[in-house]
Amino acid sequence: MVQIDKNRCNSCNKCVRDCTAHAIDIRHYTVSELCIFCGHCVAICPQSAITMNGNAIVDLQPQRITPQDFRTLCAHTRSCRSFERKPIDPEVLRQLAEITAHAPSASNVRGVELSIVANPDLLKTLNTDVSSELLKMFRLLTLPVIKQVIQVLTSKAQVYKLEKYVEKFTRAQREGKQNISFGAPAVVLFHARHETLGMLETDASIWASYCSLYASSFGLGTCFNGFIAKAFGKNKSLQTRYGIPKSHKVYIALMLGYPTRGYLHETSRNAAHTNIV
Ligand SMILES: Cc1cc2nc3c(=O)[nH]c(=O)nc-3n(C[C@H](O)[C@H](O)[C@H](O)COP(=O)(O)O)c2cc1C
Repeated sequence: MVQIDKNRCNSCNKCVRDCTAHAIDIRHYTVSELCIFCGHCVAICPQSAITMNGNAIVDLQPQRITPQDFRTLCAHTRSCRSFERKPIDPEVLRQLAEITAHAPSASNVRGVELSIVANPDLLKTLNTDVSSELLKMFRLLTLPVIKQVIQVLTSKAQVYKLEKYVEKFTRAQREGKQNISFGAPAVVLFHARHETLGMLETDASIWASYCSLYASSFGLGTCFNGFIAKAFGKNKSLQTRYGIPKSHKVYIALMLGYPTRGYLHETSRNAAHTNIV
């Protein structure tokens, strides 16, 4: 999959030195099976002699985002729960998905897949499916005996929260409100095969974060959604409706849409407690 053009290569060895897998034999212009296809060799070659999967070589643009620009992008990227009734251009959705090519993945496994739900009827079904699944769980957890156990294991506040969820979800179902996806015109599901070893869950979170920040640069609002992932985890048969294999786990969902609200001030909450050792 990685090819070295011996007519272009001048054996500068930059690729060899930057290859984390020690997979390149530049004397024979070969790449061994140790290659993890991270593309560092393609990115570093001053001769543009290395290609991967036959893809064209694209020059890297100069990086011009200042630290202040990035802070501003992050500060603007708040969880959005109120969306305009305006669909997102499929081309924008395609570009948002494409940003994952620039996101890292543990050992460059790249096992995360995206399913984008953008059909209005399917979005309503998604909301109902998730809401009903979670309501079943909340009702079970707030049965008197179970509630007592949870209270001992966690706190009274946790039980109170679960009881409030039962009320909120029941009301939303009665009133036909989209209490999970808030009428977002697209929901991106980040899923991968279910595994206990490996870091696919972390990969999915990182990829979703890249998508969220990129979406912000398109003027889109986003909100991560843990409820969707929880409900799919509880009832795998739900996944097939949205084209997700049962062998996969939905690690995180990201709601997308044009926001109806804007913010005027940066958040006043604290950054992570940090030790520099
Ligand atoms: C992993 C994760 C899961 C989340 N799940 C939900 C969710 O299911 N529903 C929701 O409305 N917000 C969800 N949120 C959004 C958080 O509630 C939100 O980030 C937090 O309230 C802070 O607000 P901000 O994102 O505007 O800074 C989730 C956020 C994260 C990081």
